[in-house]
This record gives sequence, structure tokens and C-alpha cells, in this order.
Amino acid sequence: MLRGPDFSTEVNVTSPLHLELSRRDLLISSAATVAVSGHAASPVAAQSMGSDMDYSTSTDYKTQVSFTVNGEQQQLNVDNRTTLLDALREHLHMTGTKKGCDHGQCGACTVLVDGRRINACLTLAVMHEGDNVTTIEGLGAPGNLHPMQAAFVKHDGFQCGYCTPGQICSSLAVLEEIRANIPSHATSDLTQQAKISEAEIRERMSGNLCRCGAYSNILDAIVEVAEARP
Ligand code: FES
Ligand code: FES
Repeated sequence: MLRGPDFSTEVNVTSPLHLELSRRDLLISSAATVAVSGHAASPVAAQSMGSDMDYSTSTDYKTQVSFTVNGEQQQLNVDNRTTLLDALREHLHMTGTKKGCDHGQCGACTVLVDGRRINACLTLAVMHEGDNVTTIEGLGAPGNLHPMQAAFVKHDGFQCGYCTPGQICSSLAVLEEIRANIPSHATSDLTQQAKISEAEIRERMSGNLCRCGAYSNILDAIVEVAEARP
């Protein structure tokens, strides 16, 4: 038979002695907590608590990473916290990739990694060992523009141009995503091959903001390139 709780040894929580002990226990445990937190801020204590990272003297926070950027092998020794965007701009001095928000909200930093578009501000450089990175500098050059770059020029797909490298990298990946039949929120029939349409392109490019509002011209440029290569 199940029995209810046994209250026969219940402590009288209102007794002065109990309250005194409780207060002392509380003070002791609070003091211990403060002491531990205070120590954790120092490197020595951090080690004694299981962390082996001493940021004041160690070089452990740097890592060697090798990846290919626009066909060229690059080797960097970077702070582990360096984003791919900062590695490109600050370490490799490839400033074609732009920093807009630095928070994954504007798409200005879009690059292609192994053919897939990513926000370079949201990924650490050390995560890309052996990867193949393509930036706007790797797509074309003055006098030899990539068809998407040429289409942006032809259709006035920019004004200030700050978002344009990200728009162009993103648009190339968008066309590949549609061809690979990766659905989007604008894909109406998931049983059929996704089709290149204005709705699909608008939806898939929605992560690339343009403060100049060149959206309709950007769309015209992408549609032209998409139609040129069925
Ligand atoms: S700078 Fe990366 S998304 Fe804005
Ligand atoms: S062209 Fe100026 S932000 Fe897009």
C-alpha cells in the first residue's frame, strides 16, 4: 500500500535556532560563491577550475588555417575569434566583400564557400580549413566581367554599390539552388522541379538588403542571366 509522507520528524522552521543556523549557512555559502567567482576571473584560478586557457600570456588563442581564396592557397595564423569576413578584409586585404551589419542581417558580406553562399560575418575563419572560398574579386575583373556582373551594370543593379558584391555572390548561388531543386517559401509545388521565376528570385534574395532600393533592377539582371542559361 502506498503511504503518504511521514511528518513525524518535521523540523520546526519557525524556531529561533533554526533561523539562526539558516542565516549562517546562507552567509557561508554566499561567501564561498563570491570567492569562487572572484577567482574564476584570474587566469590562475581559471586553470585550477579546469580551464587551461590563460589569455594573458598564452598564444593558444591563435590557430593556423589554410584555405583557397579565388583559386589561391592562403595560410593564416589568426585569433580563433576572427570571422571569415575579417580574415578576408583585414588579413588578406581583399576588401571587395563588404561589412554592413556584421550581424548576419544585411547580406553585404555574402561569399561562396564550396559553391554555397554564406554570410562571412557569421562564420569563423578557423572553421574553413581546406575550404574553397570565392569572393567578388574571383568572379571577374574589369574588362572581363562575369556575366552576372555585366548584367548588373547593364540593368543599373546598384547605386552606391555597397551591397553589390554580396548581391552578385548571392544571386549566383540562388540560380544554383533553384537548379538543384532546393525549395524555398515561394516554391508552390514541392513535387516538381523548382522553376526560375521572379517570385523565387525575390524570395531567395531577401537576405540581401539594398539601402539604395535597387531591387527591381537587381531582379532584372538576375532574370537575364537565368534566362541566358536554361
Ligand atoms: S555584414 Fe554580414 S550579414 Fe551584414
Ligand atoms: S546599391 Fe547602395 S546599398 Fe545597394
